[in-house]
Amino acid sequence: MTTTPENATASSGEKSAAAAPATPAAPAAPAQTAAPKADRPYSPGLEGVIAAETAVGFVDGANGRLLYRGYPIGQLVERGTYGRVAELLWTGEWRKSARLVPAPVPEPVMCALYELPSHTHPMDALRTAVSVWGAWRRPHWPPTVDQARELTAFAPSALAAFHRLRKGLEPVAPNPKLSLAGGFLQQLTGEDPDPANARALDAYFIVGAEHGLNASTFTCRVIISTRSDIASAICGAIGALKGPLHGGAPAEVVSQLHEIGSPDHAEKWVREAIERGDRIMGFGHRVYRAYDPRAAALRKVAEGMADMAAWLDVAVKVEDVVLRVFGELKPDRVIKTNVEYYAAAVLQGVGLPPDLFPPTFALARMAGWSAHAIEQASADKLIRPDARYVGPAEMDVPVFGR
Ligand code: CMC
Repeated sequence: MTTTPENATASSGEKSAAAAPATPAAPAAPAQTAAPKADRPYSPGLEGVIAAETAVGFVDGANGRLLYRGYPIGQLVERGTYGRVAELLWTGEWRKSARLVPAPVPEPVMCALYELPSHTHPMDALRTAVSVWGAWRRPHWPPTVDQARELTAFAPSALAAFHRLRKGLEPVAPNPKLSLAGGFLQQLTGEDPDPANARALDAYFIVGAEHGLNASTFTCRVIISTRSDIASAICGAIGALKGPLHGGAPAEVVSQLHEIGSPDHAEKWVREAIERGDRIMGFGHRVYRAYDPRAAALRKVAEGMADMAAWLDVAVKVEDVVLRVFGELKPDRVIKTNVEYYAAAVLQGVGLPPDLFPPTFALARMAGWSAHAIEQASADKLIRPDARYVGPAEMDVPVFGR
């Protein structure tokens, strides 16, 4: 059968082009756009497409619910620790004794961090740390819970070490008596963390740990599905999370509120931004049509942070205006506050600079990414969708002579 754009997918098109006989001297046909193939639906951005089965987490967008292995996120924040939640995601078991403490940075990783220029984005530094860890440890496929624990436990230490190095300070060793979040703060500052801040960051880690088949988790599953290793999968996931539409939003929430200045200016600022087609950071979600339960959980955490009271007061007033203006200007799309809006409050409240927000999100998401990696490997099915070919119809290559 001759391959035509109407019966070709991109992959089979490539094959038949290679096999086509060379017909010299025929004039090139003008490029035509092939008619799209109508037998299967195409969903831009894979919106609404079910691409995996998972027992790790349930994002119930219509009802604003988020469950990790069946447990609601609000209860996990109130009753859990990140160590327990990570074990739950990896093993499905809720164990009182489960702990995850910060681990030292392996020497090859530390050497690489010393070599990075101080202008390196911390997200790139974290990705590099995971990559060097993979080169050194050579984790095998399929990924294991032990691999997941090791990666999740050293990553905060590596990010903290890089942060100190870029400021001209020596890294400090982790204190294994602290929680992972508390140990991250201790390694950033060199001082024992304020317990309330450590608890607030632990809550943030719990909230950020897992979120269904988001772009970075999907990336992670695609890489693992090729039987590649967990370090490669997490490096890919960090790359996907880096984009401002995914994990880069909270830093922009801070600059957005700074730009707005006072709630009195919010209405004009928001209207103009939406009319220009700009994105308002911290709002909107692919799945949630109800209020993002993670935003509600983090708002509660932020309300307990005395230092954030003034910032929060402005943030809450601006949020009301943004939601009202969205309702008016985008009536056909339900756009609500997302997790990043209040993540910005918590991360600022514990003293992190905005450029550490995305990699701190990545530290939290390590548990979810690795749980999905383990689950994907047990399904052991290569993820390889099709593309609809919309390029020119088959034509002969013009002959120019050699
Ligand atoms: N500001 C302005 N308009 C928006 C926003 C927003 N934050 N979110 C959605 N819209 C509009 C968009 O302009 C479009 O309007 P129209 O149909 O008139 O062109 C419509 O809503 C649909 O937008 P979309 O981009 O097709 O929808 P999506 O499901 O692909 O977008 C999103 C999801 C998160 C990329 C988007 O809401 C967004 O850009 N939000 C701002 C960035 C942000 O806060 N990201 C953090 C997401 S939560 C963390 C995570 O889980 O990754």
